Amino acid sequence: MSLLKAFKQKSSIPDQYFSMTDEEMAGRVRAVKKQLGNKLFIPGHHYQKDEVIQFADTTGDSLQLAQQSALNREAEYIVFCGVHFMAETADMLTESHQRVILPDMRAGCSMADMADIHQTKTAWDRLQHVFGNTILPLTYVNSTAAIKAFCGKNGGATVTSSNAEKMLEWAFTQKERILFLPDQHLGRNTAYTLGIPLSRMAVWDPQMQQLEYEGELDDVKVILWKGHCSVHEKFTVENIQLLRQTNPEMNIIVHPECTHEVVQLSDMAGSTHYIIQAIQKAPPGSSWAIGTEMNLVNRLKNDHPDKTIISLNPNMCPCLTMNRIDLPHLTYSLERIVQEEPGNIITVDNETTEYAVKALQRMLVRA
Ligand code: 13P
Ligand code: SF4
Repeated sequence: MSLLKAFKQKSSIPDQYFSMTDEEMAGRVRAVKKQLGNKLFIPGHHYQKDEVIQFADTTGDSLQLAQQSALNREAEYIVFCGVHFMAETADMLTESHQRVILPDMRAGCSMADMADIHQTKTAWDRLQHVFGNTILPLTYVNSTAAIKAFCGKNGGATVTSSNAEKMLEWAFTQKERILFLPDQHLGRNTAYTLGIPLSRMAVWDPQMQQLEYEGELDDVKVILWKGHCSVHEKFTVENIQLLRQTNPEMNIIVHPECTHEVVQLSDMAGSTHYIIQAIQKAPPGSSWAIGTEMNLVNRLKNDHPDKTIISLNPNMCPCLTMNRIDLPHLTYSLERIVQEEPGNIITVDNETTEYAVKALQRMLVRA
């Protein structure tokens, strides 16, 4: 089923799970965890809700969760509290006897949906025609398994926000130009940090199937796929300007999925892991406006009562797709395992896995 179709579907869990109290569900989750022991592994992305993250065996950003999944050879069931592309990655990095379950199939990622494999192949053909064999494809892990496989097949790799700089540097040792999918902002921010001027970055528009660039084509170093994160794009230059006027003492820290303008005006920018570490290391009494997903901002606020922490955008909502994984869906998916009827199993076919793992391994050995 396509993710779009899955997204449009109503939740398919029995109604009774919505009428249970949180205490009842928590008790049931604990009982399943006790019964299954090491047969069960629950990774949880930092953007998950507290009601879910409290049961995670490990928490992390997308790089850490990919690494943890690759290391776990014991668990028969990996119940992935995150989004679809992360569960696919876990399936590809684990062994065939290990089953990866996504508690709600509607937990997709709008950014990953902005690049499909057909659009990617069309873009590649056109770009090869213009630039010849000078391009290496790099994809943010927030992409489908098919796109990861495409990158693996063409000598490229995956990146996460924690290692994008390192991977871009590596990519330039392989080829003259990079096609960076699907997040134009992470690609632009990272290339700029490495000293590539904006004037040498083109944008590929997958809807119009055309290259947006005003200079000499020979000068192009990076081709950015025109995709974005609908959560991180909501942090704006106006948010920063207002804060600088009203709270000039606040440190502004943002994720590199934010626009280039926002990253440039902020005091610090880095991956989810980087943001968490910066807040942990910050002195008591310091003040922070954070430009990333709301569940994480609220958790940081609760975990650090000695610091002032706010969202850079006061009207932010959590990532809707991350939020699809809630306590009722987690409880139901765990109980299906003990009833020997596990559902929502994420599987990637062998050929896709073979090439996608090449792309992932090129990243994991350098991460
Ligand atoms: P990281 O976990 O790599 O920081 O990515 C953030 C994100 O948007 C995950 O979907
Ligand atoms: Fe996708 Fe953005 Fe949500 Fe991450 S925060 S899952 S990139 S929509």
